[in-house]
Amino acid sequence: MKREEGGGAAGRRDFLKASASLALAGFLGAPRVAGAASANPAVLEAAPAAQQLAPAQYPATAVWAYNGVTPGPVLRVRQGERLRIALANGLPGQDTTIHWHGIRVPNAMDGVPHVTQPPVRPGERFAYEFTVPDAGTYWYHPHLASYEQVARGLHGALIVEEERPIEVDRDLVWVLADWRMTRHAAIQEDFNDLHDLTHAGRLGSVVTINGRYAREHPLAVRAGERVRLRLVNAAVARIFGLRFAAHRPVVVALDGQPVAPHPLGERGLVLAPGMRADLVIDFDGKPGERHAIEDAYYPGDRAAVAEIAYADDLPRRAGERGAVPRLPDNPLAEPDPARAERHELALQGGAMGALREARVRGEVLPIQRMLREHHLAWAINGVAGKARGDAPLLELRHGRHYVLTLRNETGWEHPMHLHGHVFRVLTRNRAPVPHRPWRDTVLVGRHETVEIALVADNPGDWMFHCHTLLHQEGGMMGVIRVG
Ligand code: C2O
Ligand code: CU
Repeated sequence: MKREEGGGAAGRRDFLKASASLALAGFLGAPRVAGAASANPAVLEAAPAAQQLAPAQYPATAVWAYNGVTPGPVLRVRQGERLRIALANGLPGQDTTIHWHGIRVPNAMDGVPHVTQPPVRPGERFAYEFTVPDAGTYWYHPHLASYEQVARGLHGALIVEEERPIEVDRDLVWVLADWRMTRHAAIQEDFNDLHDLTHAGRLGSVVTINGRYAREHPLAVRAGERVRLRLVNAAVARIFGLRFAAHRPVVVALDGQPVAPHPLGERGLVLAPGMRADLVIDFDGKPGERHAIEDAYYPGDRAAVAEIAYADDLPRRAGERGAVPRLPDNPLAEPDPARAERHELALQGGAMGALREARVRGEVLPIQRMLREHHLAWAINGVAGKARGDAPLLELRHGRHYVLTLRNETGWEHPMHLHGHVFRVLTRNRAPVPHRPWRDTVLVGRHETVEIALVADNPGDWMFHCHTLLHQEGGMMGVIRVG
């Protein structure tokens, strides 16, 4: 596994050492969710901006941002209400769109260039408007050159509030991002690097939470408070494995969808690109304590990504709190595996893989030509996907039940994301998955087989792709047609 440790890039460890002395307690809590009815901006303008992402001794970083900040503004809407927002493209010379990741939108609002809408050119606008059927934690990002545009900072959280949320003292959003920086804290502009493309994607050197170097801005908590923490992994490649020392977070939702409340397991919270999780954390430490939140996903690379700092105040309350209640279910159609039609989707390619050739725009090309002429290294069912012009991978009938078997034939992990629907994760290597969670993105391990089930109840052409954004760009994408 390639990790940016020194070399041309400022290494993650260097930054950590450099900031060993923590600044006084900041409030990583912002942006918050609670409060008065939302005032969403009418326009999201994608444009260049500058922001302090690296530790304080480094300069600010030139980024691309929505309305001047990365992550973009937290959008909030109540379940069942309409979201109306215009995208204005202020980018220097690149088209863009917005995709509303995880929201079951009508197809025309899905933000996929050439498939659901024309690209939005510099200086142009596009009005998005749709009803949000499901409560939960979602996010938005471009779907055009997203391996570059998301990496430059275009991403933000979208929160759909339940009519009756579970009771907590605070409701917080953490958008995680991973930046590959030079020694001068500039974004390294090797977005389509061939090594990244054929391996684990573009891993960075600096992790931020809500666009700040988190270790300099600890999460200030008060002993005795109960917090709902909504995590969004907006990184283009990094998978997080978060461990909350001395705390026992309870998982209440995955990818926005409620799940039976259960404590985090041994491996901590595994959050691959595109995924979200809602945790309820009881801060039952003592006033004045400090604890690290560590990312230990990749073997041999453990790093603290955030810090919890207890205020010196007396505990907010004495004694135990009750069990964490279950969130109300969203109105999803329950798939019945017994009467489902079955299809297989084989994930193929990558370095050291067995893929010899694949279909590129109708023509079968050997892997060398795919790489050299098209920068493609991945395929699904023998097709290296481009954003337009390919026949659908699958054609599903509106209203029918399906079980899809995702068979990973590669030596790499892939967070596979389906637009327009959510699915239940049934099995991994034939073993039943606890809670059979609803998801829109499922991490498929090396040479692993995962079964998912869904009702194809949203008509349209929907993207199905890896959310390691260079894998997507490199061919691991296709369209699933529901008609
Ligand atoms: Cu979050 Cu097709 O993507
Ligand atoms: Cu992938």
